[in-house]
Amino acid sequence: MKKLFIETLGCAMNMRDSEHMIAELNREDDYELTQTLNDADLILINTCSVREKPVAKLFSEIGVFNKKKKKGAKIGVCGCTASHLGKEIIRRAPTVDFVLGARNVSKINSVIKTKHAVEISTDYDESSYDFAEYRTNPLKAMINISIGCDKQCTFCIVPATRGEEISIPKGLIIQEITKAVKTGAKEVILLGQNVNHYGRRFSGEEAPCSFTELLQKVSKIDGLERIRFTSPHPLHMDDAFLEEFASNPKICKQIHVPLQSGSTELLHRMRRGYTKEWFLNRCAKIRSLSPAVTISTDIIVGFPGESDADFQETMEVLEAVRFEQLFSFKYSPRPHTVAAKYEDQVDATVASDRLTRLQARHTEILDEVMDAQLDSVHKVYFDELKPNGRIAGRSDNGKLVFAEGSESLLGKIVSVKITKTSRGALDGVVL
Ligand code: SAH
Ligand code: F3S
Repeated sequence: MKKLFIETLGCAMNMRDSEHMIAELNREDDYELTQTLNDADLILINTCSVREKPVAKLFSEIGVFNKKKKKGAKIGVCGCTASHLGKEIIRRAPTVDFVLGARNVSKINSVIKTKHAVEISTDYDESSYDFAEYRTNPLKAMINISIGCDKQCTFCIVPATRGEEISIPKGLIIQEITKAVKTGAKEVILLGQNVNHYGRRFSGEEAPCSFTELLQKVSKIDGLERIRFTSPHPLHMDDAFLEEFASNPKICKQIHVPLQSGSTELLHRMRRGYTKEWFLNRCAKIRSLSPAVTISTDIIVGFPGESDADFQETMEVLEAVRFEQLFSFKYSPRPHTVAAKYEDQVDATVASDRLTRLQARHTEILDEVMDAQLDSVHKVYFDELKPNGRIAGRSDNGKLVFAEGSESLLGKIVSVKITKTSRGALDGVVL
């Protein structure tokens, strides 16, 4: 049996790509996962290139891995940085055995056999490929519903690394979910760069199907109890979608609404396609239809041309929506993007200061949100055993909940009363 060490950076789609690579490798050979680098016969680095930092770290990491690895072990660089740097990776680090782009995951068994293979085509269509099965946690299944992204936001490298958007045929999605449910998953998370744009384009003949219709079909699957999805785009949050989100009991009341900026002018320069008002209106509608909802968001500070007044508008949206979860980033100029060529780049110290202010205010909001959970009761799906007789899971609205409990609770959805709160998680007793 061969040993595989795999490091996964970035988003949920990368996590699913890693599972697909593990599954495909096991189609042809027996691989066992290892956390110990110098035990591994094959080392995979599944990279992210959305911001500059992880890319810069890649080459120093390859150097470290190369020193530590056992003799004869292969190193493969996969994911978005593989797509964007391609051959350059092997030129700068000849010890790398192969490079496999984000949209070429199904070719893993051929690239490991060819020294210095580079497979990074962003036109390659894996939307109908029936991947072998592997799940990190069989209780919760990640299910891809589309590949690529057509949006061309001016800051974002993803369309250049993952190519054009193609929806996965609904038959394949339903088949995969049905299989996952049979092997123990009560919860699925539907994945795509732009999930609520589902149905935009299929590679073969397919009857039209919107994301709302897909949600309706998925929720009819017997034995499936919870549906989550990420990431939707605020522009495509029409009323039909928000009403389905609110009224369908299988859809968890947790939604990511990526803001990026609160300034309509900046949103325009980012090519996001919506205004501050539209964004606020959608969040207000979500909260009025689903009062227990958790809304998370992504915010970029220091986008080219961002003035103090623009940033103030972002702070206003933070106050108005009171996001339960915030992922915030300093703008990072990326190759192949329009905004990297804008001349009015924001001074790094100004951007850092804005990020600090945004995060500090969000932390205060978060503390209030979490403290208010004391004594509340949540339905928790327990999916992970922890040391010392503890167990962890998620509430319907996505909050991480810990309790005392054993294996008998794994895979069950039970009521938990919250007895202690903190910024990152809740603690409770099973009722
Ligand atoms: N459609 C995907 C977006 C992937 S990128 C999704 O919604 O998950 C994830 C987040 O990274 C974006 O929402 C954005 O906030 C951030 N991001 C993307 N490009 C960036 C850049 N150049 N600098 C800083 N943050 C960026
Ligand atoms: Fe990137 Fe915008 Fe698509 S953030 S992944 S181009 S929706």
